[in-house]
Amino acid sequence: MQVSMKVNGEEVTREIEPRVLLVHFIREELGLTGTHWGCDTTNCGTCVVLLDGQPVKSCTVLAASAHGHEVRTVEGLASNGSLDPVQQGFMAEHGLQCGFCTPGMMLTARALLDKNPHPDELQIRQAISGQICRCTGYATIVRSVQWAAEHPAAAGDPPGTGTDEEDVRA
Ligand code: FES
Ligand code: FES
Repeated sequence: MQVSMKVNGEEVTREIEPRVLLVHFIREELGLTGTHWGCDTTNCGTCVVLLDGQPVKSCTVLAASAHGHEVRTVEGLASNGSLDPVQQGFMAEHGLQCGFCTPGMMLTARALLDKNPHPDELQIRQAISGQICRCTGYATIVRSVQWAAEHPAAAGDPPGTGTDEEDVRA
């Protein structure tokens, strides 16, 4: 069957078998390997992408179900050469450990902040509760999302590179 969808702003069309899962479509058909594949049983959340702006576990969605819809993967988070504030927050607050859960965490955080720009800690923890960090450290992930909420217009050089105003002040 033929499926078409918009992925990170670009229209894509592929001929696939109806049984193909969205995670495999993204990784194998499109070569976007930033979306990770962990448990394959809807438990770990590492495969999260945004489907029409909503976080979904792409190991649980048929690619055919995404036909005609918009998908955003971690490769689509940065825009115009600038990292998304969520990506900058993960850098600033060391939210990234081994990095395996990170793409899904960041997309969930983006969806949360789009809906609720000022979440409290409990709301952040609830938002990421469907995602397991195998490295066990949620504190820095929560702080990363809080950083992004506090810097909604962050753009330009990533934090810590020494050229942004805030880095210069630090
Ligand atoms: S790979 Fe999809 S939830 Fe674990
Ligand atoms: S950073 Fe290692 S799994 Fe989360």
